[in-house]
Amino acid sequence: MNQTQSIQLRTDNQTLDLPVILGTEDDRGIDISKLRAQTGYVTLDDGFANTGACKSAITYIDGEKGILRYRGYPIEQLAERGTFIETALLLIYGELPTADHLERFRELLTAKELLHEGLYKLFDGFPPNAHPMAVLSAMINATSCYYPEITQMEDESTFEIAAARLISKVRTMAAASHKKSLGQPLMYPDPGLRYCQNFLHMMFSLPNKPYEPDPDIVNAINRILILHADHEQNCSTSTVRMVASSGANLFASCAAGVCALWGRLHGGANMAVIEMLEHIHKNKIDLKQYIEQVKDKSSGIRLMGFGHRVYKNFDPRARILKDSADKVLTKLNINDPLLDLARRLEEVALEDSYFKDRNLYPNVDFYSGIIMRTIGIPVNMFTVMFAIGRMPGWIANWKEVHDDTTGRISRPRQVYVGPTKRDYVPVEQRAAK
Ligand code: ACO
Repeated sequence: MNQTQSIQLRTDNQTLDLPVILGTEDDRGIDISKLRAQTGYVTLDDGFANTGACKSAITYIDGEKGILRYRGYPIEQLAERGTFIETALLLIYGELPTADHLERFRELLTAKELLHEGLYKLFDGFPPNAHPMAVLSAMINATSCYYPEITQMEDESTFEIAAARLISKVRTMAAASHKKSLGQPLMYPDPGLRYCQNFLHMMFSLPNKPYEPDPDIVNAINRILILHADHEQNCSTSTVRMVASSGANLFASCAAGVCALWGRLHGGANMAVIEMLEHIHKNKIDLKQYIEQVKDKSSGIRLMGFGHRVYKNFDPRARILKDSADKVLTKLNINDPLLDLARRLEEVALEDSYFKDRNLYPNVDFYSGIIMRTIGIPVNMFTVMFAIGRMPGWIANWKEVHDDTTGRISRPRQVYVGPTKRDYVPVEQRAAK
């Protein structure tokens, strides 16, 4: 990364030289950090679509070319050959782990996989129909109460233990909230199982009936988690970074990330895709007619699982998951009418000039929901799966903020458009509305 050019900005009566920051992949950012001090102006960028909030060495995306790389490694290679845990270590530490480091971290994950019994009791306080994302964010935040050292994090080993705790326990919490919603006994983790198998065991085993997953299902979960592990400055990661910038601890920052992820326009879209497909299927809605509704802005309907703020050609994660969906459904010999519907909907949309002109393509959520549904993961757990996958990315971003000793608290400006100064009116003198 270096700084070789500058851009001139002319305001009222002065010309300002704004330095240009070059990224390692030729990203170019205009450094406006002195703009307000020198001119009195701020920039205004609705939805931050043109605003670089930080310099980051974690994930690279080229939305035009459909490129996604974690620490330089193409997502296709990691999804094909890697495991979720080595991907997690790659994101957090910047390099693929050595065999020793991987083994050590796996042991740490096993050692930290149980929840404190006090946390298990918290589950009893939630109603059975509580949304698992609400439960997850509350549980992650509550975890800080049991590990006071989390507020210090002065050395690498405390950080690594906290990271392992989070990556390991988020899976235990997710499965526990599922079991709770079914009224089934909570299953404790099995230290003999690897990360993804252990999660499936806690989700689907019963005390009198162990669940033995098909290896293709384990692979599909591994792939879904890898593909969701990071995605540079999306809404939830930016939230984690913003919270972290105030000096908040890792658990509190990641709990905030869960809340941001919950929304329908972000992680909640994977639920919304299945709900949309079920709605079309159940009501036998003609696809072309549905697309017409989506195109009509007054309908307020969007084609869920389509479009992306950054990918304007294709989402490489969707390509990989489309292939996985085919494999899992063929292997399990499942003929899911929703998958057929999804395929036809994709065809109709991709031929339509509305979607072509706006560069709207299927995103990762379009296919991840189909796979999870096939595996038997309930729809309201889909976004939780996303959160389990995204945890390493949030941790890596939290670490990047924490390690940057020159970093400042995130505190955007605004252009105020409210009332100008006016005087207080006593209640009896206020005009009725
Ligand atoms: N269906 C219909 N029209 C759409 C869609 C969609 N899914 N997505 C975008 N558009 C239209 C917009 O209405 C807008 O049209 P206009 O130019 O005529 O006003 C144009 O395409 C550009 O859309 P923006 O809203 O500016 O795109 P933005 O980058 O702000 O939003 C987003 C991206 C939120 C993902 C959007 O495409 C969307 O709502 N998609 C559906 C929800 C979804 O699938 N989210 C998952 C995202 S991936 C993830 O979080 C892992």
